Formats: sequence, C-alpha cells, structure tokens
Amino acid sequence: MRVDGKPYRTIWLADDGKTVEIIDQTRLPHEFVVVPLNSLADACTAIADMWVRGAPLIGATAAYGMALAMWGDASDQGVKAAYDRLYATRPTAVNLRWALDDLKAVLDPVPVPQRIEAAYARAAEICNEDVEICSSLGEHGAELIRAAWEKKGKPSLEDGGVNVLTHCNAGWLATVDWGTALAPIYKAHDAGIPVHVWVDETRPRNQGASLTAWELGQHGVPNTLIVDNVGGHLMQHGKVDLVITGTDRTTGTGDVCNKIGTYLKALAAHDNDVPFYVGLPSPTIDWTLTDGVQEIPIEERDASEVTVMTGRVADGSVQDVSIIPDGAKAANYAFDVTPRRLVTGLITERGVSEASPEGLTALFPEFAIPE
Ligand code: MRU
Repeated sequence: MRVDGKPYRTIWLADDGKTVEIIDQTRLPHEFVVVPLNSLADACTAIADMWVRGAPLIGATAAYGMALAMWGDASDQGVKAAYDRLYATRPTAVNLRWALDDLKAVLDPVPVPQRIEAAYARAAEICNEDVEICSSLGEHGAELIRAAWEKKGKPSLEDGGVNVLTHCNAGWLATVDWGTALAPIYKAHDAGIPVHVWVDETRPRNQGASLTAWELGQHGVPNTLIVDNVGGHLMQHGKVDLVITGTDRTTGTGDVCNKIGTYLKALAAHDNDVPFYVGLPSPTIDWTLTDGVQEIPIEERDASEVTVMTGRVADGSVQDVSIIPDGAKAANYAFDVTPRRLVTGLITERGVSEASPEGLTALFPEFAIPE
C-alpha cells in the first residue's frame, strides 16, 4: 500500500541483503519511522514491544528473525535457540508458531554453511505468500461488501453507502500488505463501491485510532473513529451493514480469537442481525485446537498500557499521560474468543467458509482428519 504516494510493505530486506527493515508502528500515526533489525534480539524486541504487530506480520518477522539468527549460530542448537526465543515473544497469534515451524523444517535438512541463504529465501517467500493470500482474501471479502451494498439499493456515499465496522487494526500494517479485515474494504473501495468504515479505537493500545484510521486515510477510504462501546448503538440504528474483524488464531472448528473487545461486537451483531465476518488467512488457523475459549492462550500485557496513554500534545511533542488515580490497579487482557455460533462466515484466500469444522475442511481438505 502507499504512504504519501510511495508503495511500501511492512517488512523488507535492505540493500545490504542482511538487514531487515520495518515500520515502527508504536510511532504511528504521529511519525513514520523505518527501523533496521540487525539481530535475533532486535527481531524479538520488535515483536514483543509491538513495533510490528498483527498475526501475519508477527509470523513474517519471526521468519526473518530466524534468518538474522543464522549469522550468529546456524548450528542445530542455534536453530533451536532462535526458535525458542522468538516463540516466547507473544503467545496468542498462531502465525508465530506456524512461521517458526516452517523455518525449522526448511533449515533442519540444510547443511549449516547454507542455512543463512536458505532462511532468507524462505522468509522472503513467506512474505510474498502473505501478500497473495491477503489479496485473494480481499477479493472474496469485497464480494460480501458489494452484495450488502446492492441489497441496500446501491446508495451513494452521500446517501449512506455501505458501512463496515472493524475492530483493532487488521489492515496492511498487520500483515505484509493488504491486510485481512481491511483487504476486502480496500478492494471494494478500489472497485468503486462507496464503502465507509466505523473504526473502533481499540483500547488500550489504540490500534484502531492510531493505525486503522491512519492507513484508511492514506488510501482515501472514508472512515469515522468511534470509541469501543459505540458499535452496539450504531447497530441498533441500522448504521452498520456488516462487521469485519481480523483474527490472531482461529480453531479448526471455527472459534475466533482476536483483539480484546471483538467478542462484545459479535454479541451486539448477533442481537441486531448484522453479519459478523472474519478475515482469516489460512496460516492463522490452528488445526490442533477444537475449543477456542478453553484452549487458546490469552496474552496478558503490562498494566501500564491501560493506565498510561500516549498522544501528541499542544506543542506537537508526543507524550505519555497517566489516566488513573495513584495506586489504582489495572488488568490488561489483550485478546478474547468469539465462539463460532456468533460468526457469520470466515473469509479465507480460498473463499468464504461457514465457521465450523465442516466449513473449514471443505475449503482446506488437506487438513481434514482422515476417517
Ligand atoms: O495485539 P495486536 O495489535 O498484534 O493484535 C492484532 C489483532 O488483533 C488483529 O486484529 C489481528 O492480528 C488480525 S490480523 C491481520
């Protein structure tokens, strides 16, 4: 996607063929800063401290983290140690494990002197595959937006257009390019469908306010920022035609784990007969799990993310402010699980599936458990 008219991905290899470059997402929307990753430690910090975030981009960064690690120690022990360090960075997004397993399987049979080259090649492939997956997912999802718009009688933007509510940031910043929840929106917008997006601010890290509103604005997609509790009210008044969110891990049975607050949006959507869709690239499916609520590890992050907010103040500088009484306690659960009964459909790169084991294995028969 474009930033000030210039095409970017969220992660790429620098001209020296070694350094990996990323956009520091903690600085957006106030500053656009590209940061070099030179080592395994840098890659781990980038993921854990959320310079990069979003399930697919976490996976892509982990893949490049393995490549960076190979410069220091490409032995079997080195591969295992890099895997373990990267794996410990964030627990919920399953793309992390998926990418690490992939890199380990590629590297294990390769002779040690060739492992640097092999790791970089596979990391680059993973990035390219992610772009293709998200683009294809976007095409399928755009048809849902088109259908919702046609059902309303094709109103122009001035007459209300078609309204999508999204939560967190599941746009191109959360992937290598295009996004998951936002890919259908970009494709619909580019096809001339008058789509408007309600953007949940997404406390505590404000990925909606800081990232989604920014990237939609860069692409010229009409959007309106709302606080996290507004969605239900909008749905009651017919102002949301469909909800589309991303996911950090979806079980093979269709339970969807995503940014905290997604479940409440799904409940409100269910109560108001608003379709609730999830953009789901196949590497985000955890085929080993059947019960999302019980089995998916939910990341608990530092309470300071709840108690302190960061923003630009009147003199233009970016500062932290405390929003709590001294000594107050806070808890910071980063994700929740939306049971499959609340999910209208899963938008994958192979088409839209029912949120069920049958629906998913019909699209991905290679993962069906043999009878
Ligand atoms: O904590 P984050 O910012 O990594 O959480 C990201 C999300 O919840 C996204 O919605 C999710 O990864 C979907 S991805 C494109």
